[in-house]
Amino acid sequence: MVAIKKYDVIDQSTGALDRSIFIDEAVYQEELEKIFGRAWLMIGHESLVPNTNDFFHTYMGEDPVILTRDNNGELHAMLNMCRHRGNRIIRADDGNAKNFMCTYHGWTYSSDGSLEHVPGEERVYFNELDKEELGLVQARVDTYAGIVFATWDHEAPTLEEYLGDARWYLDTLFNRKDCGTAVLGPVKWMEPVNWKTPVDNCSDNYHVPVTHLGSMLAQEKVMGRPRLTGEMQFNTEYHTHLSINGHQITTGYLLEEDDPRYFHGTTADNIHIFKDYQRESLPEVERRLGSHRARKLILQNHSLFPNGVLGLRLALPRGPLMTEFWHFVTYEADAPPVMADALRWGHGGANGAAGTFEQDDIDNWRSVTEAAKTPIARKFLNNLSAGVGRFGQRDDYPGLVSDRYVSEHNQRHYYKRWQDFMNADSWADIPLDQQTAIYEGDAGLHG
Ligand code: FES
Ligand code: FE
Repeated sequence: MVAIKKYDVIDQSTGALDRSIFIDEAVYQEELEKIFGRAWLMIGHESLVPNTNDFFHTYMGEDPVILTRDNNGELHAMLNMCRHRGNRIIRADDGNAKNFMCTYHGWTYSSDGSLEHVPGEERVYFNELDKEELGLVQARVDTYAGIVFATWDHEAPTLEEYLGDARWYLDTLFNRKDCGTAVLGPVKWMEPVNWKTPVDNCSDNYHVPVTHLGSMLAQEKVMGRPRLTGEMQFNTEYHTHLSINGHQITTGYLLEEDDPRYFHGTTADNIHIFKDYQRESLPEVERRLGSHRARKLILQNHSLFPNGVLGLRLALPRGPLMTEFWHFVTYEADAPPVMADALRWGHGGANGAAGTFEQDDIDNWRSVTEAAKTPIARKFLNNLSAGVGRFGQRDDYPGLVSDRYVSEHNQRHYYKRWQDFMNADSWADIPLDQQTAIYEGDAGLHG
């Protein structure tokens, strides 16, 4: 029997994309269930809950989630919903607590989510309440290089399988040092855009010299940084653009092995600090990642399916026409304070709520979302045709690699992955790309 697919929104042979997926409320509700209810989602960083009984409030899709480190040091991601009548258990952003007492009737949970105390357990419930069954709803939790992921789907593949060989590239930014990464943030703000648009944009290299021209001219003038030109972007010699399991990666070759691994935050005045740090780190990074990845590869724009936008930055869905953005900055935990400070203001000035690059982008994203709102505009499909059919496997780069750095290969594969999830009845119907990368060095999934 031929399976009938409900969604057929992206034509891989033309790049034509149906815009209704950006505005339809029914589609959105299905996304919450089939994508945010199934995928491994980034929800925070281990350093946000360093001590036992620390908690950090986060989200999986629209569901409020408490990330805790319990009395035994284990991480938990739990639905912030009392099992009695659904009240939120905590209202704070973060803190330290052995117990969480619901403020409605007083049911009290421990930091591992178990239901510890029910007022009137005998007088109200005749001791017939099954407290074992009424702990907080738990997601599966795992970490990659200190970044915490969770999924509601207990049939989902492991996080390692979910990331697949995207990790081969991600390691070159997030998994370089034994000390792991530190995190700043999050800065949070709302954007009147569909959540998929910023994700599709963040591995789009085509827009950078145009959309961000003003910001780059300002950086050139104020910070003494070389401007990224269209000519440099179209050069495919040092850059690559690829897709793995719906994760979209752009990567480059370092010209000098002490080149900074970070884009924002470097200036003509501080570049020597970044270079010194890279040079001093190199033997350790080489042990962890092998020579090729340590010396040559650099991670550039990327997204993790479904809603990771450049590293640990989240596009949280808030209805088809609204997204809550969470902006974290990660950097190596042993970076000298002057470098950490440069990264803080460099990233804040570029990609935070007040960031010039972010504002350049938001204007486009908002307008693109608006274009899906009327039936007249919706008749005309999005054109994602750049580089159609021009991609394949390569020996030197795992994944489906685009022939050109500037291409809409990644956008087409992002929406294909979206469609895979939306048409699947379960994880059994969702394909995973074969892992082919050789992970030289001793860095693993957990650091
Ligand atoms: Fe939480 Fe009643 S809703 S104790
Ligand atoms: Fe941009």
